[in-house]
Amino acid sequence: MSRVTGEYDTITTTGEAVRAFVPYPLPPRDPPLALDGRVAALLVEANARLRELELAGDLVPSIEWFVYAFVRKEAILSAQIEGTQATLMDLLNIEASSEAPVDADVEEVCGYLSAVGYAWDQVARDDGLPISTRLLSETHRRLLSGARGAFKQPGEVRRSQNWIGGTRPGNAAFVPPPPHRLPELLSEFERAIHDESDLPPLVRVALLHVQFETLHPYLDGNGRLGRLLITLLLRHWGLLTRPLLYLSLYLKRHRGEYYRRLSAVREQGDWEGWLCFFLEGVALIAAETVDTARALHAVVETSRQRLLHHEDATVLSLRLFELLPKNPLLSVSRAMTLLGCSRPAAAKALDVLEAAEIMLPRDDHRRGRVLMFEEYLSYLRQDTELEPAPQTQPQMTQAPM
Ligand SMILES: Nc1ncnc2c1ncn2[C@@H]1O[C@H](COP(=O)(O)OP(=O)(O)O)[C@@H](O)[C@H]1O
Ligand SMILES: [Mg+2]
Repeated sequence: MSRVTGEYDTITTTGEAVRAFVPYPLPPRDPPLALDGRVAALLVEANARLRELELAGDLVPSIEWFVYAFVRKEAILSAQIEGTQATLMDLLNIEASSEAPVDADVEEVCGYLSAVGYAWDQVARDDGLPISTRLLSETHRRLLSGARGAFKQPGEVRRSQNWIGGTRPGNAAFVPPPPHRLPELLSEFERAIHDESDLPPLVRVALLHVQFETLHPYLDGNGRLGRLLITLLLRHWGLLTRPLLYLSLYLKRHRGEYYRRLSAVREQGDWEGWLCFFLEGVALIAAETVDTARALHAVVETSRQRLLHHEDATVLSLRLFELLPKNPLLSVSRAMTLLGCSRPAAAKALDVLEAAEIMLPRDDHRRGRVLMFEEYLSYLRQDTELEPAPQTQPQMTQAPM
């Protein structure tokens, strides 16, 4: 399969002539998308698994736990794709301490949480912003609200040329469109979201993610924002009404292939290859997400039973237990605030949870006494720990010229 998906604009930067890629508007044509064979089978599978995830969300009594947990998991994984060194435990530790993050990587992940909270609310509300450049820029502003993002024009579409891979545009793997083309390209992008289309919604989500990465409209954060866009579009088309799918796990596991397939769309017009990759990931991760939700649910059930049958159980300890899924790490002060009780009463409630072997002391004693809902966390943090130090630096290099 080969098709042309855009044209090149020759730009001159620092005396060098460089070809910047300007994609054609969606949907793909000449030839149109081939939605048969393997793509068709994967589409059925991905839709079915998403539907199961949606239904699993309807069945569990405390869906907000899973939203809390899986949004954080996605936040960490999406940031890790481009080399952020924060882990889920780093994030939860910061949230448990209610202090401002000092680590720039953790701060970035907190920016993601604020961005997804904002954007989700807008899309879910009747009077919220539609999915548009304006919404994306407002989301971007929150995403890059930390100290590191301050130099990357948070909330603003870029006004300078950027590039991907390489030390300058001249030796880059990919040079996105010149900035003066972005207003027109972003309007086309909005139209591709809101115009009528015969394509299945999940296919449109897949196409729009690639198109967004190809436009690379911001100086930084395009990967994270483009993956957040997937979540928003799933909601927009009613495929998943809660942000439960942590697709970044798949994209992180297959990062090399993810990047190669993005390039193959631009270079060979291989939209079908990207679709297969994307749909396979959606099916796989949706199924994994259902399994994780079941496992977490079971841990809560068995732990609750253990507590109810424990001789020391008190009303306050039971109340605290019900708060654990959204507070899987707890200090005495935090327990005090949550329960609205005295320090000794909060400490006692925590002691009971420890005696029932539900909460274990965090191994790091330097930062004061904190207990963790260990069995729950052991499921949640799967695949969110850091791998051994990478051999190479993250692939991205981009700077205003
Ligand atoms: N060859 C490529 N073509 C298009 N997009 C790419 C390519 N390689 C990587 N990307 C996208 O660019 C993102 C990185 O861009 P960047 O603006 O630094 O985002 P972030 O700061 O969120 O990581 C990657 O996560 C990926 O989505
Ligand atoms: Mg970046």
